[in-house]
Amino acid sequence: MKPFSLLPALGACSLLTNAVFAWEKSANGTCTLIPHGSGRDDSQQFQEVINATECTTIVLPQPYTYSIQQRLYTDITNKNLHVYGRLLFSDDLEYWINNSWMTDFQNLLTAWILTGSNWTLSGGGFAQGGIDGNGQPWYTRAAGVVNQPGRPMSLYIFNASDSLVKDFSVVQPQFWAFFVSQSHNITLDGVLVNATNHDPAAPVPDPNAVSHGYSWVINTDGIDTYRSDSINIQNWVVQNGEDCVSFKGNSTNINVRNITCIGSRGFAVGSVGQYPDRFDNIINVSVKDVTMHPTPNVSLTGVVYFKNWIGEEIGTPPNGGGGGSGHVSNLTFENFAFQEADQPVYIQTCLTYSDIDTTNLCNTSKVLMEDVTFINFQGNSSGTYNGTLVDLNCSSSTPCRNFNFIDWSVTAPEQFEPVYDCINAENITGITCGSS
Ligand SMILES: *[C@@H]1O[C@H](CO)[C@@H](O)[C@H](O)[C@H]1NC(C)=O
Ligand SMILES: *[C@@H]1O[C@H](CO)[C@@H](O)[C@H](O)[C@H]1NC(C)=O
Ligand SMILES: *[C@@H]1O[C@H](CO)[C@@H](O)[C@H](O)[C@H]1NC(C)=O
Ligand SMILES: *[C@@H]1O[C@H](CO)[C@@H](O)[C@H](O)[C@H]1NC(C)=O
Ligand SMILES: *[C@@H]1O[C@H](CO)[C@@H](O)[C@H](O)[C@H]1NC(C)=O
Ligand SMILES: *[C@@H]1O[C@H](CO)[C@@H](O)[C@H](O)[C@H]1NC(C)=O
Ligand SMILES: *[C@@H]1O[C@H](CO)[C@@H](O)[C@H](O)[C@H]1NC(C)=O
Ligand SMILES: *[C@@H]1O[C@H](CO)[C@@H](O)[C@H](O)[C@H]1NC(C)=O
Ligand SMILES: *[C@@H]1O[C@H](CO)[C@@H](O)[C@H](O)[C@H]1NC(C)=O
Ligand SMILES: *[C@@H]1O[C@H](CO)[C@@H](O)[C@H](O)[C@H]1NC(C)=O
Ligand SMILES: *[C@@H]1O[C@H](CO)[C@@H](O)[C@H](O)[C@H]1NC(C)=O
Ligand SMILES: *[C@@H]1O[C@H](CO)[C@@H](O)[C@H](O)[C@H]1NC(C)=O
Repeated sequence: MKPFSLLPALGACSLLTNAVFAWEKSANGTCTLIPHGSGRDDSQQFQEVINATECTTIVLPQPYTYSIQQRLYTDITNKNLHVYGRLLFSDDLEYWINNSWMTDFQNLLTAWILTGSNWTLSGGGFAQGGIDGNGQPWYTRAAGVVNQPGRPMSLYIFNASDSLVKDFSVVQPQFWAFFVSQSHNITLDGVLVNATNHDPAAPVPDPNAVSHGYSWVINTDGIDTYRSDSINIQNWVVQNGEDCVSFKGNSTNINVRNITCIGSRGFAVGSVGQYPDRFDNIINVSVKDVTMHPTPNVSLTGVVYFKNWIGEEIGTPPNGGGGGSGHVSNLTFENFAFQEADQPVYIQTCLTYSDIDTTNLCNTSKVLMEDVTFINFQGNSSGTYNGTLVDLNCSSSTPCRNFNFIDWSVTAPEQFEPVYDCINAENITGITCGSS
């Protein structure tokens, strides 16, 4: 890589009001952006180089760090964006709480909206370029709190199609690393997500305790899909304290391959049924070749779990809700190897985040779950839930059906008898409900 002058030798130098944008353009449409340095904000010139019509490939080379102090909106239709360096999001929490973009789900926020069709976003190699979300102050702020508002997702892929995220990393995401919504035919290949708490004030788990807790990295999902079709997620490594991969309403034809989840809550189907006016379909999902294990500080709480809201509306989203309907169907989870999962497979059927006791509403859930197949599961549970390996706890108003377990080799710690609970669950094959 040749050295870069502070002002570009070739091509575009845009002078806008009082800002100087520094990128170098070569004849083939490749524009190379260098950071301002000295702690100055690069968000404006980053969006400017992306907007420049003469730039079809935008390169942010290593070893540069780009300071992102303002929310980003980028439409990279027909462009290639190579973030070989890193985009370091600022830790001005108040700015982000006040100014992050709103998404179309649960009033959740994002720091960066990426949109458009026929684009590539790449980081140049596995665990190389990408985003540093500067998540630590967000983790410390949210310590011990569920669903704290104001935290922005690192990257919101919205209204996008026919595009590729390749070899890209998100370290220390502020909140969820990726959220893909209203998009189709997106492949995300070779992604590292790592949310690790470094605040020494976090309680250190007892190494002998069966469950390691979350160690403050709550709500750091690897990726969530919503209102999207034909999404391919492959060759990922996710270390976090929340869902590794999560499928939300109207996720259809989702293919997931070769994923390692470290810590994490595993694969989440849902939540579904939170919005009475939004029917939630999760249909044709295939997940294959997954390895999972806890860390000394963060439990692997589950392998595959389902989150269904209660069938009555109590409060309003984001943290209240319920009463929605949905259909979860044709999901296959194949070749899973895992260690010490607190509860490998379970269904939550009376989900609410309100303070109201909803146990009497567990039988009201209206989401139909059917045709779910688990093939070749090999692993063990931690014993946190004694011997429970599977808990299919469905609602009487909408029983679940056709859950099939094939080549199931999952063990409980030896002091416990394995337990398979099935409530309002019909045609469950390959495990023996109610016993070992
Ligand atoms: C475009 O030019 C740049 C700088 O000369 C070079 O590094 C890059 O490989 C070229 N890209 C293509 C696709 O030719
Ligand atoms: C880039 O273009 C979009 C429209 O596509 C516009 O909204 C935005 O303000 C532009 N950003 C910059 C930094 O020029
Ligand atoms: C996709 O973008 C590339 C440039 O990155 C362009 O050459 C190609 O024509 C575009 N394809 C379509 C279908 O627009
Ligand atoms: C955030 O919003 C509050 C209330 O509107 C305001 O007082 C504060 O100055 C804002 N801070 C930033 C950094 O935008
Ligand atoms: C979605 O993208 C299309 C172009 O593909 C555009 O016409 C439309 O306005 C976008 N919708 C939103 C909500 O941004
Ligand atoms: C899907 O997107 C990829 C880019 O990731 C593109 O090459 C392919 O042609 C698209 N498929 C369809 C059916 O448009
Ligand atoms: C995540 O980061 C932590 C600390 O920064 C490091 O110890 C760990 O190895 C990383 N995990 C992965 C999968 O890279
Ligand atoms: C699985 O993904 C990891 C991380 O991207 C990669 O290193 C490994 O080569 C992949 N394995 C296979 C069989 O493709
Ligand atoms: C899912 O799509 C259906 C139409 O197929 C629509 O009625 C429903 O509101 C959508 N749900 C969401 C969450 O967008
Ligand atoms: C189930 O989903 C798979 C993809 O995961 C798809 O190939 C298959 O056709 C679907 N089956 C039905 C009956 O739609
Ligand atoms: C585990 O078993 C013990 C003893 O029977 C019981 O007190 C405890 O509630 C059980 N824990 C769970 C999570 O079921
Ligand atoms: C029971 O479930 C299996 C697979 O999960 C399915 O093939 C079969 O058709 C189901 N039987 C009934 C009666 O629905």
